[in-house]
Amino acid sequence: MGQPRHARKDPDWWRSAVIYQVYVRSFADGDGDGTGDLAGVRSRLPYLAGLGVDALWFTPWYLSPLKDGGYDVVDYRAVDPAFGTLAEAEKLIAEARALGIRTIVDIVPNHVSDQHPWFRAALAAGPGSPERELFHFRPGRGPDGELPPNDWPSQFAGATEPVWTRLPDGDWYLHLFTPEQPDLNWAHPAVRQEHEDILRFWFERGVAGVRIDSAALLAKDPDLPDLAAHPEPHPFLDRDELHTVYRSWRRVADEYGAVFVGEVWLPDPERFARYLRPDELHTAFNFSFLTCPWDAGRLRAAIDTTIAEHAPVGAPATWVLCNHDVTRTVTRYGRADTAFDFAAKAFGTPTDLALGTRRARAAALLSLALPGSVYVYQGEELGLPEAEIPVDRIQDPMYVRSHGADPGRDGCRVPLPWVDGMPYAGFGSQAEPWLPQPADWPSYAVDRQLQDPDSMLTLYRRAIALRPRFGDGPLTWLPAPDGVLAFSRADGVLCVVNLAATPAELPAHSRLLLGSGPLDDAGRLPQDTAAWLRA
Ligand code: NOJ
Repeated sequence: MGQPRHARKDPDWWRSAVIYQVYVRSFADGDGDGTGDLAGVRSRLPYLAGLGVDALWFTPWYLSPLKDGGYDVVDYRAVDPAFGTLAEAEKLIAEARALGIRTIVDIVPNHVSDQHPWFRAALAAGPGSPERELFHFRPGRGPDGELPPNDWPSQFAGATEPVWTRLPDGDWYLHLFTPEQPDLNWAHPAVRQEHEDILRFWFERGVAGVRIDSAALLAKDPDLPDLAAHPEPHPFLDRDELHTVYRSWRRVADEYGAVFVGEVWLPDPERFARYLRPDELHTAFNFSFLTCPWDAGRLRAAIDTTIAEHAPVGAPATWVLCNHDVTRTVTRYGRADTAFDFAAKAFGTPTDLALGTRRARAAALLSLALPGSVYVYQGEELGLPEAEIPVDRIQDPMYVRSHGADPGRDGCRVPLPWVDGMPYAGFGSQAEPWLPQPADWPSYAVDRQLQDPDSMLTLYRRAIALRPRFGDGPLTWLPAPDGVLAFSRADGVLCVVNLAATPAELPAHSRLLLGSGPLDDAGRLPQDTAAWLRA
């Protein structure tokens, strides 16, 4: 292949990038219908450039009935009319690029929408047809086939619903998520070919990277055995065949100089790192950091494990505090249990938002000082809390599928506040947003925070502007009292985070570059505060 169309001046940009996650439906509503859209994103590109991010990761914007927020795709080559058009997506990619911002799209290879033409054809063609081979159709068990083909658990945590749905013709089909998201059969060559074509389709349109949804779930044991009877190798998680798929994807990406970030939830660091070998994915989300409690020892261990697991494969780490699936950081850090666990989600968990915000500010400086790339989820830079959505307004299928036990993920997906004093805090002008905004949302509005030197937004803007000083080099831990994290990076830049109850003396330094909060009168770093220093 010749020179890729979008050759980058810096081919290694992704190794240390700040990547901003745009949940399109809730970012900005350009046409005033209550749903965020590409016109809204385009109008706010100057804001994103001002924030200083290197790339935008867009959650799926494809044609979709939105049964799972767009992770149920009907056509990977079309933009959903609720969000805009393909031509608009192309404009957005180009306009962002002109501002120095790259685009990452979200590819959902494990499943499609039940409205996808392949699935509709499979339903119409009936049992035993070649159309059904693109999915996992099976007869049931029991005398009349009335029992599901196996015992696999749903991949929506908290969901007690089966992963099989029976059709009137007697066949069952597999869906690790909702019944509207049938799983594709990755042993079928047409499935593999189609996805490589989809990758090319978006690379040809100038996207610089792809986020891979549910990246460790695609391959299934062809016998679909019971998990209880055959736990090893796992029948659908982290199977070895997957690596052939990603090696092939990597060859496609290399033709365009594009990169991957995988959504790989795996507890075993060695198994995780296999996805990051030099001929596979470039990066994967760091969920051990995301789920880690606000505890110095646990954070240091998570950082050390992360760096150690990435080193042998030469991949950069990623640092993530939250995303569209998990509890907002300021809310989580203000709770008695500051870890994140899907299984522990419940309505009405108390939180101290002032405490959580102080910690989230310190965590922002911690993660932005670490070696690798950093993800910022829209609204994180505003310090938005998790919203309690009235149950009659909840849209996330997790709520219904858990029979109301799990509040679902809408609380972190509430439309952003842009302007205090405008209808719907400036998210959109006419129709009420698709999820209700809490009454205090205007107090978090972008325009207010831009004026406030102490706001979360100002902290993020300053930190992202200063971050290049940390360079791409290694991290060295410095001696520090219990409960204090202190490390140096290249060029004598230091980061100190105090999680202990007693104020901490700062190490010798020539300049305080940035603090997440004020020092005390004796010039010490108070609890739940971080500082960046020049040595
Ligand atoms: C992970 C995505 O982040 C989540 O939002 C989605 O529900 C599942 N994958 C299924 O696609």
